[in-house]
Amino acid sequence: MKTYHIITIGCQMNKSDSERMASLLEKQGYKKTDKKYQSDLVVVNTCGIRQMAEDRIYGLIPAIKKANKKAKIILTGCLVNRKDVKNRLKKYVDVWKPINEITKIPLAPFIKGGKCPNDYLKIEPKYESKFSAYVPIGNGCNNFCSYCVVPYARGREVCRPAKEILAEVKKLVKNDYKEIVLIAQNVNSYKSQIPPNPPLSRGDIDFADLLKMVDEIKGDFWIRFITSHPKDMSDKLIKVIAGSKKICHHIHLPIQAGDDKILALMNRKYTVAHYKSLIKKIRKAIPDASITTDIIVGFPSETKKQSNNTAKLMKETKFDLAYVVRYSPRPGTASFKLIDNVSLSEKKVRENKLTKILSSTALANNKKYLGKIVKVLVEGENKRDELFGSTETAKIVKISTGDFNQRLPRSPGSSPGLKALPRNDSLVGRFVDVKIIKAKDFGLEGKLVKKKLLV
Ligand code: 5AD
Ligand code: SF4
Repeated sequence: MKTYHIITIGCQMNKSDSERMASLLEKQGYKKTDKKYQSDLVVVNTCGIRQMAEDRIYGLIPAIKKANKKAKIILTGCLVNRKDVKNRLKKYVDVWKPINEITKIPLAPFIKGGKCPNDYLKIEPKYESKFSAYVPIGNGCNNFCSYCVVPYARGREVCRPAKEILAEVKKLVKNDYKEIVLIAQNVNSYKSQIPPNPPLSRGDIDFADLLKMVDEIKGDFWIRFITSHPKDMSDKLIKVIAGSKKICHHIHLPIQAGDDKILALMNRKYTVAHYKSLIKKIRKAIPDASITTDIIVGFPSETKKQSNNTAKLMKETKFDLAYVVRYSPRPGTASFKLIDNVSLSEKKVRENKLTKILSSTALANNKKYLGKIVKVLVEGENKRDELFGSTETAKIVKISTGDFNQRLPRSPGSSPGLKALPRNDSLVGRFVDVKIIKAKDFGLEGKLVKKKLLV
């Protein structure tokens, strides 16, 4: 049996795409291996969002080919169309395929006994997790933010029919998945032309409608979604989130910069005032919402004063988390033509300053959790027998279980009404209640609330 290994660099969309790639390869008879240097087939799912992500493949791909000359290498993802990347790696890469064309890779006859769907989003993924699943609602982007490679790498926005999304979610929930993450480059511009049933058959389904339909699926699960674009976030969507039971109170709303001139240069199509008004509406409708963001420091021509405007916005908005990154010029994008005139050292200064503000607002927000009992989805266990997981507000929680396991009856039925509790690790993928006893800037710590586990 031939083996395959997939290396995924980048965002959730790439991770989800790799899950479809894995499924496709297994249907062709390939078997997964963890050994990238010995695999018959290595897929490198690339990311071009920043230079750092790009650079990872230049050492990796030649090293794989050197270790195993017979290995076939497929390169897909965001760097596949870049001519300079092709020139640099053509000696090592056997197949170059954009992700939406992976169904056409000429390696083996496709899917034994069946036809491979033309639309790559129709491939049923081999989900990495047994309890949390990425469900793409579309692919590509029409926004052309001036710094961003995504519209070039992934093409124009394509939305998946609502019917298909709902069917995938229903199946996942039936299989006991606890977290559904709806993903797209801009979820807020979602439109479905295929109404699944009345009364929505009157018109198009937008993202708020889709979320509502997913929320109505019966079962004990959480719904997350990424990423929202501030220019497209509607009042209707905020209302749907506020009124739902399953949609997590976490909104990732990238601001990118807190200065109108820089936002215009970035082609973001909103102003700081608009962003602030959105935050106000969200906080009013969903008081416990956690709000996270992306920020680029040192965009071409950004002055100290303009960066200070971002600092001011951060202080006012009190983000729970922000991915603060240094601007990285990307070939082919509009801003690549601008001079990258903020020095690396100045970018670092701005990055540190914004990260410090973030740290203090995040800590203040997290302190509000002290003494509270919160629902946590357990995601794993560390070597010290501690569990960790996330709240619906996307706070990472370290959970101590104390002597709980030892004190429980070991066999089912040994105590009326109690079931022997499995070891900690079988709590992975389950919801538990946790009492928060410590708040840090980027995490919480708590104790398992025991009574909730005796089910
Ligand atoms: N330089 C720095 N950061 C970038 N991002 C996208 N393109 C660039 C770039 N050229 C960041 C944005 C976006 C996130 C996914 O990556 O903040 O929201
Ligand atoms: Fe890139 Fe802007 Fe599209 Fe996001 S919305 S993927 S930043 S072009």
